[in-house]
Amino acid sequence: MSLADQISELKARALNTLQGTTSAADVESWRVSYLGRRGELAGLISRLPTLPAEEKRAAGQAANDAKNALQSAYDERVASIKSASRGDGEAVDVTLPGIPPAVGGLHLTRQTLYEIERIFASMGFSVFETREVESDEYNFELLNIPPEHPARDMWDTMYVSEDVLLRTHTSPGQIRAMRKYHPEPLRVILPGKCHRYEAVSARSESMFYQVEGLAVGHGITLASLKGVFQAFAQQMYGPDREMRFRASYFPFTEPSVEIDISCTCEGRGCTLCKGTGWLEVSGGGMVHPTVLRNGGYDPDEVTGFAFGMGVERPAILKYDIDDIRRFYANDLRFLQQFA
Ligand code: DAH
Repeated sequence: MSLADQISELKARALNTLQGTTSAADVESWRVSYLGRRGELAGLISRLPTLPAEEKRAAGQAANDAKNALQSAYDERVASIKSASRGDGEAVDVTLPGIPPAVGGLHLTRQTLYEIERIFASMGFSVFETREVESDEYNFELLNIPPEHPARDMWDTMYVSEDVLLRTHTSPGQIRAMRKYHPEPLRVILPGKCHRYEAVSARSESMFYQVEGLAVGHGITLASLKGVFQAFAQQMYGPDREMRFRASYFPFTEPSVEIDISCTCEGRGCTLCKGTGWLEVSGGGMVHPTVLRNGGYDPDEVTGFAFGMGVERPAILKYDIDDIRRFYANDLRFLQQFA
């Protein structure tokens, strides 16, 4: 094969190989082996002077042609790899900071739950989670609310079937916790979702969270509840907050109380407390002997206190949120403020 033919063959092979390069490093090693000073083309060109005159001309032309073709193919390749096309032909500046991936945050309710759990955990309470779909028996009967009891009106209920329902409060978890731990003393909180068949408004949602508290053992009194709740309220709402018990009624506690904390307006009158100076945050009381018995305890041996509070409420108070419906409307503009 003449030198001119060898040069054309090399040109074709080099151009072909260049197609397969994908990185700047690939292209550079291609350049070294074909176009470099000790590359293949230079090797062939170095044989030019030895050729007879008539062949020299053709080979010389082939060499020039190959050199130009490879050089311009190389330049093009370098340019195209540099502008590592994003599809729109724009160059990528690899020194720019990347686009950070969107990371989620904890929902305001979850953050509040964690805060409540942290405070009670520091007082020796453990978290006991139970079911959201309950039986009528646990949600009502075992809590001393028999069928047809007028107190059932306190909880408008969504029934799944005759005797299965969506729990209207976290209180049925009390029975489940007691049945698990009796006759040992127990100190638990029970966080969870509750549902009520209620008209939705700025102040009430049909789905919301509660945290139930329950302590059973020897020598537990209403003063124990007061002390525990006081400690909780001061950590949750601030050390200057005062607390008060108001007599109330729940079928599963005797006596029963409503727990209020003082409003930041200190009674000067605001829309939150409607000028009373107090905010209602929880129900509570001494566990009814019937309920203790239903949980497997002997009410002549032990006593217990219980309480049940909302979870959205503390967040509403803390951030001055005007409408509880915002919590679960999934409007990210609202939720991201707390993430
Ligand atoms: N379960 C009640 C409700 O949803 C709240 C409650 C009141 C819970 C008193 C308790 C309690 O444990 O002792 O309205």
